[in-house]
Amino acid sequence: MNRNSARIPVIAIDGPSGSGKGTIARRVAAVLGMHLLDSGALYRLVALSVSRQGKSGGTAAELAKIAATMNVRFGIDAAGDEEIWLDGDEVSGAVRTEECGRLASEVAAIPAVREALLALQQSFRKAPGLVADGRDMGTTVFPDATLKIFLTAGAEERARRRHKQLKDKGIDVSLAALSRDIEDRDRRDSERSVAPLRPAADARLLDSSNLTINEVTRTILDWVESIELRE
Ligand code: C5P
Repeated sequence: MNRNSARIPVIAIDGPSGSGKGTIARRVAAVLGMHLLDSGALYRLVALSVSRQGKSGGTAAELAKIAATMNVRFGIDAAGDEEIWLDGDEVSGAVRTEECGRLASEVAAIPAVREALLALQQSFRKAPGLVADGRDMGTTVFPDATLKIFLTAGAEERARRRHKQLKDKGIDVSLAALSRDIEDRDRRDSERSVAPLRPAADARLLDSSNLTINEVTRTILDWVESIELRE
């Protein structure tokens, strides 16, 4: 990070799976006209790349090499939907599966993989500003973020939301299986030795269990208004 990029505002939104970070981060970025970093997608892309190369049992160095060399591009299609490209293939559907999320949380526990993705994540910090969504945006990737938010929701509510999201996409998964998956992922993300899921000391906590998407977005935009976000 150079001196100039250090002045570009970052809004870090961290929290567990299914807390609504992705939706909220996208909304906040759109309202503020800022760039967006979906850091979870990068871990999912590593997982997809690893499974495509048949390296799931690979060494940490092999997995880190995949993370460092994969060719990633985020875009928007003609209908305004998000597109994710990995080494020339459109993979937005493939990275969103529960299986890919599970594998992502396994590769995300490997320190060399996290290290390999650090500079890539920081390169998203561009004027006029960045909204970064993940687990360690405020603690590790952008410790100098202008505003840090830790978004939570009860585990049951998160499983219910994820269930609805998948159902809307025509994917049929049992709620019980999803709850188990979310609990497993929470545990793995919170207990890993490197960049575990936890709020930064200076993060503002926001529990979205009983709030609508609009209410959460409004709260964050009010916080943004109350601080100086200029370069
Ligand atoms: O947010 P999403 O569900 O797409 O993230 C997939 C997995 O990637 C998470 O379960 C977590 O293990 C990992 N991750 C991470 N650090 C981030 C973002 C995601 O470890 N900043």
